[in-house]
Amino acid sequence: MTRIVHLSDLHFGAHDERLVEAVEWQADKLKPDLIVISGDFTQRARTEEFREACEFLDRLRERGHEVLGVPGNHDVPLYDVLRRFLSPLARYRRFIDDTLCPFIELPGVAVLGINTARSLTFKDGRLNRDQVEFIRETFARTSGETLRILVTHHPLLALRVGEEVERAIGRQELALDAVEESGVDMLLAGHNHHALSHDAGDLVTRAGGVLVVQAGTATSTRVREQEQSFNTIDIAEGVATITVHAWKSGDFRASDAQRYEWQDGRWRILKSAESAH
Ligand SMILES: [Fe+2]
Ligand SMILES: [Fe+2]
Repeated sequence: MTRIVHLSDLHFGAHDERLVEAVEWQADKLKPDLIVISGDFTQRARTEEFREACEFLDRLRERGHEVLGVPGNHDVPLYDVLRRFLSPLARYRRFIDDTLCPFIELPGVAVLGINTARSLTFKDGRLNRDQVEFIRETFARTSGETLRILVTHHPLLALRVGEEVERAIGRQELALDAVEESGVDMLLAGHNHHALSHDAGDLVTRAGGVLVVQAGTATSTRVREQEQSFNTIDIAEGVATITVHAWKSGDFRASDAQRYEWQDGRWRILKSAESAH
């Protein structure tokens, strides 16, 4: 089995220290093969916030965790206009990761992160043609049996969050081409501070049956209709189990698990597993 812990929207600078400690403790307990962080490491892209995020990553790595992250829109300075346009991700690259397209292969699973944060469209994200080509080339180098996971901060597809349907990523058609042509099996993202998972077939008529997995905010004090949470994704023999660990009564508790099996070119829900606590 391959286990991924999926964190998102840490928002250092507007974070709750108790939740940061709890995430670290949970990571040690869950023993993932990889920790994915799908963007918004900071609240305002300030140096001090990046330093705190960096220390968090150092602590995870010191305890033997492998981490893959992508920037979010909050990791681009909003008010520092010069920096925003001339070197929007300089601090991210200095404190978090110099590469904006990290790639890690685990047994049977390949994970690629792509940056969707932009200076011009601060809140919204997008992909460009070079990135689409890079996604194609990178996944083409993996074997056909490999489960291919694409990580972005912004969801590629329009998702319902409470009563509202959020906007899809800019140039959605380009993104769907990349997903389809690269044989992507799973999309991990954040941004909405709202955990959910479902088959893309419920949302769009294409995209090759990709499984959409959204993480809530793990540690931010700013929540939208849901408490803070993170996901574990367990992958074994064509079955993906997504468990949401939600913050309740002073701890993260495994409150919901959804099992999907790959059947006839798409993910089908097996059953809702019982709460694990
Ligand atoms: Fe966020
Ligand atoms: Fe965001």
